[in-house]
Amino acid sequence: MFEHVDAYAGDPILSLNEAFQKDPRAGKINLSIGIYFDNDGRIPMLPSVRAAELAVVEVAGPRPYLPMEGAANFRSAVQALLFGADHPAIKAGRIATIQGVGSSGGLKVGADLLKRYFPDSKIYLSDPTWDNHRAVFEGSGHTCETYPYYDPATGGLRFDAMLAFFKALPTRSIVVMHACCHNPTGVDLTQDQWRALVPVIRERGLLPFLDLAYQGYGDGIDEDAFAPRLLADEGLSFLIANSFSKSMSLYGERCGGLSVVCPDADQAARVLGQMKFMIRRNYSNPPMHGGQVVAKVLTTPVLREMWEAEVADMRERIQSMRRQLHDVLAAKLPGRDFSYFLTQRGMFSYTGLTAEQAERLKTEFGVYILRSGRMCVAGLNTRNVEATAEAMAAVLAG
Ligand code: LMR
Repeated sequence: MFEHVDAYAGDPILSLNEAFQKDPRAGKINLSIGIYFDNDGRIPMLPSVRAAELAVVEVAGPRPYLPMEGAANFRSAVQALLFGADHPAIKAGRIATIQGVGSSGGLKVGADLLKRYFPDSKIYLSDPTWDNHRAVFEGSGHTCETYPYYDPATGGLRFDAMLAFFKALPTRSIVVMHACCHNPTGVDLTQDQWRALVPVIRERGLLPFLDLAYQGYGDGIDEDAFAPRLLADEGLSFLIANSFSKSMSLYGERCGGLSVVCPDADQAARVLGQMKFMIRRNYSNPPMHGGQVVAKVLTTPVLREMWEAEVADMRERIQSMRRQLHDVLAAKLPGRDFSYFLTQRGMFSYTGLTAEQAERLKTEFGVYILRSGRMCVAGLNTRNVEATAEAMAAVLAG
């Protein structure tokens, strides 16, 4: 019956993580998947999240289905987190927010919505982008192309080329952008560069679709929401998928949202209705538990304060790993420029290593990074950073 079904080639991120788990070598180092590990190499259970979870379980009653769009307290907490509690767009009722299944689920619901109502619009992805972006949008029937983004020569951004490209796009083109902590490069737009994009988005009638999966890992929880707040302040229409996987270390609970900022409340109500329809025919309604834990953290002042401090600790630990890796590599290979480790933000850095060099890192040294050269800096710790730098230096030296 299923002879015609092709074997799955695997996913560049998840399959490599599985290969790491099976690797019997004691000194192996996992810098592949985008997961934050603490200095002991463990996925943290954040104390704020733990306390919220106990409080949620304490009062948990029967489990009816959630509405298609998710729990109201979760949805309003997401809006306040992304835009600031008093944002006029929230007060005007012009933001339609659903509780998603992680940020990926939000991307999928958004992709379906856009395919139905913008059937002739192409999707433009940064070059490069998260490996799964193209798969999600193509899976909803979109045609995807790329816009200039990363500059391998400098380890920075090709902003002029990106701006010129946006200026030449057909109206109603959909531009997928990372709100902060670009995955896979760690290269972000500055606030001035976001501001410079605003007139282009407005004049060309572009529709941005922001992905905010790493809020708090760049410069801070509010700072990392600069882009959605700016676009909303400017009265632009856009979509934003956001995630709590990383910021609350709740990967397996699949907590996230999709918000569509609309010109007015009437359009927002219709967009919300169609998102409910997309959800109903995909998975009916989201799960309850994780979203309630997130809402508890976000809306309980003492837990919120704890959480913000915990996110700051994670962010600062990543920054200190960036500095250590940079310093060891700079000492081992003087003359080479590793400053990109210091300027790139968030969990990831684009190391510039080729696929062959990444393969050597894995087979010869047990250090796992993606074939694209992406390294998850959040997998480094004080015990493995030296070994990682040594392995990288050996591979780079040829
Ligand atoms: C990553 O980029 O490694 C993470 O976002 C995990 C994933 O699902 O790909």
